[in-house]
Amino acid sequence: MATTGGAAGRGGAARVATSDPGRGAGRGGDAETIVEVRNLSKTYRDFWGRSKKVALKPLDLKIQRGEIFGLLGPNGSGKTTTMKLLLGLIFPSSGDAFIFGREASDVSKNERIGYLPEESYLYKFLDAEETLDFYGRLFDMSPAQRKQRADALIEMVGLGRDKKRQLREYSKGMTRRIGVAQALINDPELVLLDEPTSGLDPIGTREMKDLIIDLKKRGKTVIMSSHLLADVEDVCDRIAVLHQGELKELGRVEDMLRVTDVTQIRAKGLPPQATEEIRAVLRRHGIEDAEIGNPMTTLEDLFLEVVRDTEARPGRRARQ
Ligand SMILES: Nc1ncnc2c1ncn2[C@@H]1O[C@H](COP(=O)(O)OP(=O)(O)OP(=O)(O)O)[C@@H](O)[C@H]1O
Ligand SMILES: [Mg+2]
Repeated sequence: MATTGGAAGRGGAARVATSDPGRGAGRGGDAETIVEVRNLSKTYRDFWGRSKKVALKPLDLKIQRGEIFGLLGPNGSGKTTTMKLLLGLIFPSSGDAFIFGREASDVSKNERIGYLPEESYLYKFLDAEETLDFYGRLFDMSPAQRKQRADALIEMVGLGRDKKRQLREYSKGMTRRIGVAQALINDPELVLLDEPTSGLDPIGTREMKDLIIDLKKRGKTVIMSSHLLADVEDVCDRIAVLHQGELKELGRVEDMLRVTDVTQIRAKGLPPQATEEIRAVLRRHGIEDAEIGNPMTTLEDLFLEVVRDTEARPGRRARQ
């Protein structure tokens, strides 16, 4: 790998955007708007109606069909509040939210939405199949449809081996998976996932991220929240960064992360001679401090490699 250049500079991100017409989605002006939020805010009040906590300051946002949109921010920044406002579970203090062009308070729109809350509220004494059957009934699905959909979803979230176990025996990661399957039971067009990777190990996290990308391939729109930056970076098309209830940054992940004034060349099997020639070329162009070396893998990739290797060759000892 060769990396040349000077000070890193980020490209493209719109800083402190108060509105984003969806241009960032790269789908042109005719893309279908699934979520539109105007001046939306939320102040939680106490029993006496006194202002208790400003959880979301006026927010303007548009999300287009087929996007994976990330809500990013530290604890208490307003991610869950935003999701609940979109679902009509809580009322805004100001502004409007429209989903599929309908007001968020119109709960009939929720038939087309799947929701994974941050805390699981599933019945502990049901197993995976019974859980999905129960939620299938809420959506007026026939027994045959429910069975077929439940089987497919259980496989999709990797709970095939544990589908007959009661949820009270499930680990945190397994509970998260059945939660996702439940959120998808009605084959929703829009999926809201509040911290989908919380409690998952790196393999579970990778699988969840792949699952989210797969939802996009099936034409779904996904809104997910996280405070784990790597999760968001890998899957989201656009993100909104919230801090203390305020929108701080909005844009395409690619544009936000690209360092525009550094050039990177990656090559396999580069002989030392070629490296020297590259250095000479760079020097001719006045670049003396080029970094040429081997790239680092991520700890996530390393972990996945170790686990897969162990599964393929059980009993192998640690590499030194
Ligand atoms: N029912 C409530 N009553 C009063 N304040 C609330 C209520 N729900 C949330 N808040 C406050 O609103 C702010 C935003 O909370 P929210 O749950 O939206 O944050 P979050 O970004 O989802 O955080 P986390 O990453 O911890 O899940 C926090 O300060 C929180 O204490
Ligand atoms: Mg939250």
